[in-house]
Amino acid sequence: MRKTIIAGNWKMNHTGEEGAAVLQSLAARVTAKEGMEVVVAPVFPYLASAVQIAAGSSVTISAQNMHWKDTGAYTGEVSPAMLVDIGVTHVIIGHSERREYFNETDETVNLKVKAALSHKLTPIVCCGESLEQRERGEMKVWIEGQIQQAFADVAAEDMTQVVIAYEPIWAIGTGRTATHEQAQEVCAIIRHKIGTLYDPSLADGISILYGGSVKGGNIAALTQCADIDGALVGGASLQADDFMDIIDHAV
Ligand code: G3H
Repeated sequence: MRKTIIAGNWKMNHTGEEGAAVLQSLAARVTAKEGMEVVVAPVFPYLASAVQIAAGSSVTISAQNMHWKDTGAYTGEVSPAMLVDIGVTHVIIGHSERREYFNETDETVNLKVKAALSHKLTPIVCCGESLEQRERGEMKVWIEGQIQQAFADVAAEDMTQVVIAYEPIWAIGTGRTATHEQAQEVCAIIRHKIGTLYDPSLADGISILYGGSVKGGNIAALTQCADIDGALVGGASLQADDFMDIIDHAV
């Protein structure tokens, strides 16, 4: 059975004090539900304290990015070894904001995916099309290409550790959620592509999340879909009540 994962990507939000308050509330309120995982991704400076706050609770901590090398002259970067060292278990890779503003490419996504896996970090690998690509009828080819390149040279045995997040760029922070039918269609395309790259039973075990204006009111319809196993949540993960609303209504 696939895991349902509700992951909160705080992006560049919350001071240490604000984030700690939200996380303390979540750590106290999230109960261990069989088959469900709750993940929160604060900014780098607060990851170590977030791990401490979440310790012993049902919340685990993710980074929002990382470099693929372990050490070296890469000013401003953080390595997978460093994330593991402080107890981080997940890392978001290839978010569309990193692709758009920080020159993330399919090639660097692939390097980061392989580095995360070699350090036993769970990569939450993002893909998604723009509105223009969708309107030009290019969504399927684009998504399949992103998936193929993200997992190039990744061994089948490592794929069991992977989480994929489908985030249509036009639905991120816009209040415009993809309908659950649209989200399901693309998550099925992703699962099928993984099936052709590896094998269908491997693809069947991978958790695929939807991201883009998810809230308490639409999570149930999304997670009821056959190929949607949870959500990567931005805005609605910033306050404990909103995020709990999503966690409580995920199916
Ligand atoms: O990583 C999260 C996504 O970018 C979704 O953000 O829920 O604010 O639309 P949003």
